[in-house]
This record gives sequence, structure tokens and C-alpha cells, in this order.
Amino acid sequence: MNEAISGFSKLSKAEKIKLIAKHYFTDAGSAENLVKSYWNSDEKLQQLHDEFIENTISNFYLPLGIAPNFLINGKFHTVPMATEESSVVAAAAKAAKFWSTRGGFKTTVINTEKIGQVHFMFKGAKDKLQSFFNMIKPDFFAETQSITKNMQQRGGGILDIELRDKTDLIDHYYQLHATFETKDSMGANFINSCLEQFAQTLKEKANEHDGFSETEKEVRVVMSILSNYVPNCIVKAEVSCAVSDLQEKNIENPQLFAENFVQAVTIAKVEPFRAVTHNKGIMNGVDSVVVATGNDFRAVEAGVHAYAARNGRYTSLSDARIENGNFHFSLDIPLALGTVGGLTTLHPLVKFCHQLLGKPSAQELMQITAAVGLAQNFAALRSLTTTGIQQGHMKMHLNNIINQFEVSAEERDIITKYFKQHAVSHSAVVDFIKNLKTN
Ligand code: MEV
Repeated sequence: MNEAISGFSKLSKAEKIKLIAKHYFTDAGSAENLVKSYWNSDEKLQQLHDEFIENTISNFYLPLGIAPNFLINGKFHTVPMATEESSVVAAAAKAAKFWSTRGGFKTTVINTEKIGQVHFMFKGAKDKLQSFFNMIKPDFFAETQSITKNMQQRGGGILDIELRDKTDLIDHYYQLHATFETKDSMGANFINSCLEQFAQTLKEKANEHDGFSETEKEVRVVMSILSNYVPNCIVKAEVSCAVSDLQEKNIENPQLFAENFVQAVTIAKVEPFRAVTHNKGIMNGVDSVVVATGNDFRAVEAGVHAYAARNGRYTSLSDARIENGNFHFSLDIPLALGTVGGLTTLHPLVKFCHQLLGKPSAQELMQITAAVGLAQNFAALRSLTTTGIQQGHMKMHLNNIINQFEVSAEERDIITKYFKQHAVSHSAVVDFIKNLKTN
């Protein structure tokens, strides 16, 4: 099919599936059945999922795994992780266990400020705009009162609004740069509603401001939107122990291990190609918790990587050092998370995950998530600087390859035993299974 589809959104779910199956699949019946096989038999639950987005035809599953034994600030947590990548949950669980016998994770929320901006164009005298802004600043607060009332009762609200001159970047470009505290909600709707009201107030007040010329009265608002860059919404997670306490299987020489580990982090600090992969490993853990708890992983990803490049060069989010015979490993990460509103109240499995975590506040969830990110980074660097990553990874991957074939329990056992002794590669496993089947 190589033509535009018109009126797709108006079709019923069944019609949408039929149309797609007919036009894109040679075996339309099988395609249709596959899509439907992912529907939930509980019609109400299915409807709930259908209504999360538009043009829904089915569900797209991600496995939900559990990483137990996260000792964070003296309290054990059992962490839900939604991810498709093999080894991630196992690595988190292994790192959590390791650190649970070495004092656990210490986490601290450094700050929780969110940011939003009204981007606008003003053709006129800067000093006049500044004094106009100073004069109407209280109006921004007053005219958003109906929006901020509930948030203020919860201890949040608008923290400050600044006028920012951006004319060095683009002629006539200014911003209202506002900061917010949104407590347990991620706050996107709250912030965007406030910003749109600020924009309205700005335009109206400018239009009726006697001190402005006719051109100056024509403030042109381009857009009003929160920023997912949250460099003042930071949580820190750390672990530390005596270097000698690092000794374990695969860590026979703890001093050498610690030195190699610190070296690996130092490389990620100075070398962007490595830093990106290093941080990707951290995000394996962070995203899994963010998804499981119904938070916006795209927002978190965007903000985290911008933060990693905040000094003009992309660098490691984590840091490691050896000091007075002690190994220290830490992570500073911006995480704008919510534990109320949005999917947290709608998605049954998301609710389950929050319950599993003991219904955390947003700040507690920031801390748990950061601990998982640090654990993931520890697990990756531990493998990379000792056995290499492939050994563990391919063992986990083996299962995924086996699952592509119809094998009996007995055959699975034979395959698994064989690949305990032999290197796992996709073709080696496929060949072995084919051989097994023909003999
Ligand atoms: C794989 O998903 C993540 C790693 O590449 C992270 C890293 O290299 O630090 C193992």
C-alpha cells in the first residue's frame, strides 16, 4: 500500500486491524489473530488500555521483572523493573545484593525544582520591558491562583518568574523563565497551565500598558511549555566500602579491581564515545523503574543527557574514587518523577508497582531510581573490567534464542548444558538446535 489512508481514526478498532492486516500482510488472518491474541480477556481492562492513546489496536508487552534486596538509607526495597533487555534485572539484583552486605546505598535529594518558559518576541526598548515585567510580576501569581490553589495546599506552586533577555541569540527574543515546585506530581499539566496563563497575562497587560508604543504593545508569544531539562531537580546515590571489602568471586584482587573501576569511570568522564554507553548502562536501570512506575521515560532521558552535557561536553553521570583505602562510587542525576496523577492512578500494574515500593513520595522514588541507576552502572563496570560483558550477556541471550524455536523441556536442558561449556552465538545455537532436532 503506497497511498495516504484517510479517516483511519474514525474506523472502529476491528476495522483498523482489518485494514492493516489486509494491506500489509500476505496472511491477513494470521496478522489479525496475532494482534488480537495480545488483547486482554478482561474487556474493561482492555478498554482502559485502549483509551490511553489513539488508534489503539492491541497491547505491546514489556516484561516486568523484580530486583530485590535494594538496601537504601537503611531500608530494604524490592524494585519493579519494566524492560525488554536481558541481563538488566539480573545485573541490578546482583549489584543490590552485593552492596546490601556493604552498607547499602545512601541517597539524597539535592533539589526538586522544575522549569517552564514562555518564549516571546518583543520589539522595543529592553529597559521598558524590564520595568513593565517588574510591575506586572504580581499579576502572574494572582492570575494563576485558581490553577495553583491545590498545589499550594500540598506545599508546592510557582517559585519564581524571571524575565530573560535572549536577544544575543535571536533578535527580539525574550523568555519568562519560571520555576516550580510540584511535590509528588511530575507537574507537566500544572506547569503548562500556569505558563499558558502567564502568556495570556503578558499579552493582555502589554496591550493595555500606557508606557509602551504601539509596536511594544504587540508582544508576540511563540510558545509556552515546560522544560524537560531539570538541572535543579537532582538526586544523589552513593555506595562506599573499604577497598579490601570488594573481594568476591571474579574480584580476587580488590585493589586492582578498584583501580580499574575508577579508571573506567575516568575514561567515561573524558571520552564522550564511552560516556554515552556508560550512561546508557545507567539508564538501563533508571528507565526500567521509570516505566514500571508510569513515569515519562522520554522526558527523563532528554533531561539526563542534557545534564550530562551541561558543561559543553558530554560526560559520565557517575563518579568513582579511592580515598584512604576506601572505594567510593556515586551518581548525580536529574529525575523529575511523579507518584500521583497520570498513569500512576490509571494503570493497574503501575499502581501495583507503587504499592510494591511502599507508595513512595516523588522524592523517595527519585532516590530508589537513582540507586538502581548506580547499581546498574556498578554491575556493567564490574563485568566490563573483569570477565567482559559478553559472557553473562550471551548466557541470558541464549534463552531468547531458544525461545524462537519449539523445544521441549528436555531439549532445552540439553541445549543449556551444552552452552555452559561452549561460546554462545546466534548461529551456534541455531545450528545446535537444528542438529538436535534432526538427530
Ligand atoms: C548494555 O545495555 C549496557 C552497557 O553497554 C553499559 C556499559 O558499557 O557501561 C553494558
